[in-house]
Amino acid sequence: MALSNLNPINTEAWKKLQLHHQEIKNLNMKSLFAEDSERADSFTIKWNDFYVDYSKNRITPQTRSLLLQLAKECNLEDAVKRYFSGDIINETEGRAVLHTALRAKENDTVLVDGKNVIPEIFAVKNKIKEFSNAVISGSKKGYTGKAFTDIVNIGIGGSDLGPAMVTEALQFYKNHLKVHFVSNVDGDHVHETIKDLNPETTLFIIVSKSFTTQETLSNAQTIRNWFLSDTFTTGENDIAGHFVAVSTNLPKIKEFGISSENIFPMWDWVGGRFSLWSAVGLSIALAVGYDNFEELLEGAYDMDVHFKTTPFENNIPVILSLLSIWYNNFFNAESEAIIPYTQYLNRFAAYLQQGIMESNGKSIDRDGHLVNYQTGTIIWGEPGTNSQHAFFQLIHQGTKLIPADFIGFTNSLHKDKDHHNKLMANFFAQTEALLNGKSETEVRSELEGKMDDNTIQKLFPYKVFEGNKPSTTILIDKLTPKSMGALIAMYEHQIFVQGVIWNIYSYDQWGVELGKQLATKILKDLTAENIDNHDSSTRNLIRFFKKNQK
Ligand code: F6P
Repeated sequence: MALSNLNPINTEAWKKLQLHHQEIKNLNMKSLFAEDSERADSFTIKWNDFYVDYSKNRITPQTRSLLLQLAKECNLEDAVKRYFSGDIINETEGRAVLHTALRAKENDTVLVDGKNVIPEIFAVKNKIKEFSNAVISGSKKGYTGKAFTDIVNIGIGGSDLGPAMVTEALQFYKNHLKVHFVSNVDGDHVHETIKDLNPETTLFIIVSKSFTTQETLSNAQTIRNWFLSDTFTTGENDIAGHFVAVSTNLPKIKEFGISSENIFPMWDWVGGRFSLWSAVGLSIALAVGYDNFEELLEGAYDMDVHFKTTPFENNIPVILSLLSIWYNNFFNAESEAIIPYTQYLNRFAAYLQQGIMESNGKSIDRDGHLVNYQTGTIIWGEPGTNSQHAFFQLIHQGTKLIPADFIGFTNSLHKDKDHHNKLMANFFAQTEALLNGKSETEVRSELEGKMDDNTIQKLFPYKVFEGNKPSTTILIDKLTPKSMGALIAMYEHQIFVQGVIWNIYSYDQWGVELGKQLATKILKDLTAENIDNHDSSTRNLIRFFKKNQK
């Protein structure tokens, strides 16, 4: 059964939220904190090793109840059941959405077309386990009998971003294997990656759900040619020992010459951007070992249970989604920043950009009509403290409202308290500064005595911080495979809730197809005598490119 189809702006809650927004839009969070000494407690959710404080948001208890009413009126409870039970909620592609099944327990039952998919999932997990153990231990060897030292993941989008982000996030847990990622069709990416690699000790994982993606197939072919080139004494037979593939498209993999035992299947009910929990995460298992990969799944499973069973008012993904809707649809905020205070999460925002923007960047509702409200938020971010020295100026004193998620960890991995306390002092300071700003009085008293009155008068407007900028603090005990799994799953469920309420289909991505089709056509024009019909700008650019290419 499908998800319900209901324009959210026609709900009672939406109308009430509009009125409520008019009433409280100018309220200052500082006064909300002053009026209610319990505010932080009443807007904090503690779950496992997560402490989520959303009190520094422009909300009152009434905002929260109205947002919860919106979730109720949009049939979120029913949607959650359908999401976990394998209903065809990705209707435009006629598929279930079951990344959650990938972290389910062995005795669970998840039916797709009447068939329990858990045994297949566990069969693939066992294969990942055996394969990664053999490569890590060195018992699986390359064509000259040497153990593998390097792994290259060839994939793009969901077949790259998830594994690349997690491998970097869990670098602390890494073993001796060096893991590289080739994604861009830009030849410089692949050539730069392979230039120092030794084919004797390198294993290649081709990851492509469809096995038709131009970037991945080109990179795989280039690497295959390099592997078989005269420089190395390899032959077609050696491909079998060095190339593995992860895909749903088994005939295409075989065409490429990959042997059956090196094929890791995946399923069409797992979206690319949610697939790191499947064999797409093989490079993660290789990088940090299978037990840590399992821990990652375990953390995601715990978050699944939390999301599925916790009343919405204490449900982290639900509350985070509702806050996002509050800013996006009532305050007209255009973007959201995600700022992890750990260098390990360097790629986290890039990863979430695909998850969030490819999923909810939609303008047609589940009734086939153009939406008459805003949907997908623009996501961006970089780790703190680096980002403080880059774009925080705009968040503090710019003209745009940018709600931000601050993600931090109580304990550091290298146990350097001095560094960690400095990092976390910045983490707390930023959210406090965003909340309180700096008043005229504070600025004046800071400047008085240091300069004359005229200069003070001239300077103080620039030194005043308005404050009242929303942020949500997600404080986690420690960056472990398990907490990482839970954190990723938290955002996955947030994406789902927003899609349900916005009445859109979050699990297709037709918008990326047009560019792909045109690129195929233009590729021919780049080598043809005459070029096809194009607008004058594109035609001139192609001509200029062709004329000047050496
Ligand atoms: O960018 C479009 C997209 O289809 C993504 O959704 C997907 O993650 C990526 O391309 C790669 O696709 P594939 O895994 O089929 O190569």
